[in-house]
Amino acid sequence: MIDNNTLDQDPREHQFVQDPYELYNRLHTSGAPVFWRTYGFWCLPSFSDVNAILRDRRFARRPPAGYENPAMPEHLKDFAASERHSLLALEPPQHTRLRKLVNQAFVNRQVNLMSEGIQSLADSCLSQVAKQNDFDLLENYATPIPVTVITKLLGVPEAAGDQLIKWSHAMVRVYTMTQTHEEEIAANKAAEQFQQFLKDVLASKREHLGDDLLSHLIRQQNDETQLLDEEIICVAILLLNAGHEATVHQLGNAVLTLLKHYPQDQRSELLAILDDDDKSDALVVECLRYAAPLHLFTRYAQTDVQLTDSVHLKAGDQVGLLLAAANRCPVRFSNPNQFIPSRTDAGQLSLGAGIHFCVGAHLAKLELRIALQALFKRFPDLRLNGSAHYQNSYHFHGLEKLPVSCR
Ligand code: HEM
Repeated sequence: MIDNNTLDQDPREHQFVQDPYELYNRLHTSGAPVFWRTYGFWCLPSFSDVNAILRDRRFARRPPAGYENPAMPEHLKDFAASERHSLLALEPPQHTRLRKLVNQAFVNRQVNLMSEGIQSLADSCLSQVAKQNDFDLLENYATPIPVTVITKLLGVPEAAGDQLIKWSHAMVRVYTMTQTHEEEIAANKAAEQFQQFLKDVLASKREHLGDDLLSHLIRQQNDETQLLDEEIICVAILLLNAGHEATVHQLGNAVLTLLKHYPQDQRSELLAILDDDDKSDALVVECLRYAAPLHLFTRYAQTDVQLTDSVHLKAGDQVGLLLAAANRCPVRFSNPNQFIPSRTDAGQLSLGAGIHFCVGAHLAKLELRIALQALFKRFPDLRLNGSAHYQNSYHFHGLEKLPVSCR
């Protein structure tokens, strides 16, 4: 319910989690910020507001000096350590220094070299599922591709993939703001084991440096960069968690969107798009806009800010950026609730903007394009085989399962 720019919506309510877009439509009738009572901060639905704040240096991911959050409790101490040097926990100049070192591994040329590997990975997953008529696409396709890609990029043993997924699932619960105490304890245990695993990987890698990201960062450890092992470990955990969770869910959401928008009697239209790399890239951007996996990020005002005539933020106040609502903003997009891969007003905020813009954006788009092309080329008659529900989390808008039939 929205009353006087105040929103009463439990973010754990089942119906809301399944379809937050119904609320976004209501928010867009005025487009103004709303005070979301459950979270206790103002939230912004409009594209121009969200885009502006992501780029505005008066806002940061951390509170300003003097307004710091209380230290994490003892039962989350290993989790806190895993985040200490995360890019998402840093601001300039520390952020600039670390981001520059990581960026080198993500330049487009470097990422494009991964195309062949992604293609053969997608093909081999499809050969596995081809042995069954019915399968869960999320478990058998959307999950293994991103985790294998990121292990290869980092230079972590591929066989560890299943374990990494378990640690990652346990840790990301802490970002949902709806986690239980038991989940926090499990997240801390996962963080402790994950850090120990990476310490061991770094030690053995030092003996045989390769051309992967961890070797690259080890080579950067010198008097000039002062790059610490703990920093490399935090970056690796962030890349493994961020790099895989969001991509899994974006791929699942994208496939569901395509199955709904191109039923079998209109499938040839989709196949024609996927046959063309440029059109497929545009399709991926529209999937990111239409079916975002991450719906809410926050920023802290670093100083007092007059947001609108009636909304005044004080230094240290938090503000919610509704990325997926911004993607459906009627001022920015014509027919925002329609899926139109050929739209001339293409764009999206699912990958963020500003200094924390997703490091893996190019890689994620490449993975999505190749995975969608390979899937529908192999199974042009793919169809939904049951109902697909979103998992019980508002922040990570991803499916629990995606049951499909390939024949
Ligand atoms: C479709 C998939 C993906 C989505 C939707 C996504 C989304 C995002 C968003 C919204 C942010 C910005 C958060 C903020 O501003 O507060 C971000 C940052 C980040 N993403 Fe992604 N991401 C995806 C895939 C990836 C991949 C594949 C990687 C790495 C392999 C990755 C690594 C990162 C990192 C390291 C940051 C932090 C950047 C910084 O703070 O400077 N992401 N991502």
